[in-house]
Amino acid sequence: MNSLIEVKKLRKSFGKLDVLHEIDLAVEKGEVIAIIGPSGSGKSTFLRCLNGLETPTAGSIKIGTHTLKFNGKKPKDKEIRSLRSQTSMVFQSFNLFPHLTALQNVMEGLVTVQGMSKEAASIQVKGLLEKVGLSQKKDAFPIQLSGGQQQRVAIARALAMNPSVLLLDEPTSALDPELVGGVLAIIRELTKDKTQTMMIVTHEMNFARDVADRVIFMDDGKIIETGTPDEVFGHPTHARTKQFLDQLYVGIEKNLGWGL
Ligand SMILES: Nc1ncnc2c1ncn2[C@@H]1O[C@H](COP(=O)(O)OP(=O)(O)O)[C@@H](O)[C@H]1O
Ligand SMILES: [Mg+2]
Repeated sequence: MNSLIEVKKLRKSFGKLDVLHEIDLAVEKGEVIAIIGPSGSGKSTFLRCLNGLETPTAGSIKIGTHTLKFNGKKPKDKEIRSLRSQTSMVFQSFNLFPHLTALQNVMEGLVTVQGMSKEAASIQVKGLLEKVGLSQKKDAFPIQLSGGQQQRVAIARALAMNPSVLLLDEPTSALDPELVGGVLAIIRELTKDKTQTMMIVTHEMNFARDVADRVIFMDDGKIIETGTPDEVFGHPTHARTKQFLDQLYVGIEKNLGWGL
């Protein structure tokens, strides 16, 4: 069967530093993938390669019908644009335009990238702001919004582009703890109808367990282990996965004040 996304032997180096080593991955349409792993393991670099923000050193990425092969040279702008037009990314730090309102932020891509009229774009995105629970805040500027609200605008902005795959890179890591739940609830809602393909880098293990069809554990630029949440969280087969999860649980227990 033809998968929506096929990544083959993807490598990325920054100078002498090899950050991704031969990543192979196929993702089916509608699949929700959670990517977990220690800091520095290459999770962000992987998503950035899928989004065309980094140029891989070697390998290939197929999304939909379009395949890009990398050979160390800079790909043509047109090819990068085609990758970008099929992926939307949500960043840890929201990255909203500070001088635009919530509504304008969500419309921006439709108007500047897709050439839609402002009137048509504003009608189209109002439903999206509703979807993320922010219709009331459509005229607010980012500085007037909480981190959680800004991230919900960023999610609406990403959805506005109607991407084949939505990439979320630690979408709740920069939020105050009381704001995390609201953003996770929005993402959880998006996973419900099983149509939007998503790849989510997250440290929220309970969330990953609940929403993901598949969990990928990355370490040192490689996919070490992949499986259903029950497999990876319940019965990890690799020592490195076990060690990572054990450390995480010890951290959580400490935070909750257990074991005192
Ligand atoms: N632009 C860059 N230039 C040089 N090194 C980078 C760059 N981006 C990431 N790295 C390095 O690549 C490795 C993987 O980083 P990253 O993908 O951000 O990991 P993760 O998201 O899993 O924490 C790290 O060692 C990081 O320092
Ligand atoms: Mg990262």
